[in-house]
Formats: sequence, C-alpha cells, structure tokens
Amino acid sequence: MGTTEKSSKEKLLKNLESILIYVSNSGIKLIFISALLFFATMIMISIAQAGQVRHIANSKLLINRGRYLVEDVGKCADCHTPRNRFGRPIKSKWLEGAVLNMKPIHPVPGWMGKTPDIAGLPHGWMQKDMIKFLTTGIDIKGKFARPPMPGYRLTKKDAIAVTDYLKSLSSKK
Ligand code: HEC
Repeated sequence: MGTTEKSSKEKLLKNLESILIYVSNSGIKLIFISALLFFATMIMISIAQAGQVRHIANSKLLINRGRYLVEDVGKCADCHTPRNRFGRPIKSKWLEGAVLNMKPIHPVPGWMGKTPDIAGLPHGWMQKDMIKFLTTGIDIKGKFARPPMPGYRLTKKDAIAVTDYLKSLSSKK
C-alpha cells in the first residue's frame, strides 16, 4: 500500500471520527436520529403501499376472471337477468333474477320457472356457501338446485372468482 493512499485513508477516518464526535456532542444528534427515523418510516410506508397496490391489482384480476366465467362461460345472465319486450337482457337489472323465457317440451320433475337474484350473492348466502355450491352443486340447504339450473363443478379458484364478481355487483344496486 502506498504512503499517499494510506495517509488519505487515515485522513478520511479522522474526518469521519470528527464528524461522529460532532454529531454525538451537539444538538445535531437529535436531528440526525429524527431524520433516520423519518426515512425508516417512509421506507416502511412505501413497502406497505406497494403491498396494497398488489392486493388491489390481484382482486381486480380475480373479479375480471369471475366476470368472464359468469358472462361468457356460465352464461348465468341467460336465465338470471330479466329481458325487455325485444328479448334483450335488461342491463340495469343484471343478474337480479327473472322469469325464464323457456319451458320444457316434456314434463321435467322439479322444473323451476323463476331464478333468484344472484347480484351480490343470493339472500342469506355467505361467500363459503357460494363457493361450495359452485364447486359441488350442493346449495345452502344441502340440496341440488332444481332444473334448469346447471350443476356447475368449478375449481375452487374459479368459484372464488365468480363469487367475488357477484359480490362486486351488490355495490352497484
Ligand atoms: C339455464 C338457466 C340457468 C343458468 C344458465 C344459470 N342458472 Fe342459476 N338458477 C336457475 C334456476 C331455474 C334456479 C332456481 C333453482 C331452484 O330454485 O332450485 C337457479 C338458481 C341459482 C342459485 C340458487 C340455487 C339454490 O339452490 O338456491 C344460484 C346461486 C345460481 N342459480 C347461480 C348461478 C350462476 C352463478 C350461474 C352461472 C355461472 C347460473 N346460476 C346459471 C337457472 C339458471
């Protein structure tokens, strides 16, 4: 190690030492600690916020998946949304329950001509009831729904997505 390098290192250490002594002796100590605490808090807040943003993004993704399953795969609105006189679904009554626009050509035991309101989950149903129903076909009373309600067997993940989407509709009523 060259002498100039050594002496510059020593100088640096000396400087650091004098700064530390100055900080620990003066009122600056308080300011120094406050600043440190301030930055630590800011870092913690931004980490928490990033987590929150991720959470919101995830739940938005889930609701979008649920909307796709309800609107495009399950076609729930075909039976659960009332229609206007042109046969078109009434958007303002989306999934709020309807009288069916079809009848069986042969008698079907238990045929149900009406559908319940499922926008925001059916009355009295909790999230776990809906997930059970969509994954097993067994409803809150321990029974299968009457025809023509299909007995869906969704994966748990998809059932959660559908449930979250339906729940999101309750705020729009
Ligand atoms: C072909 C018509 C039809 C389609 C499509 C349909 N439903 Fe239904 N749904 C019904 C009928 C009819 C009932 C009433 C059954 C009963 O009262 O037993 C019903 C009942 C329900 C119930 C209450 C079940 C119970 O046992 O109380 C839920 C929840 C439900 N539907 C959700 C959905 C969801 C979610 C979708 C789409 C993924 C969907 N339905 C698609 C016709 C349909």
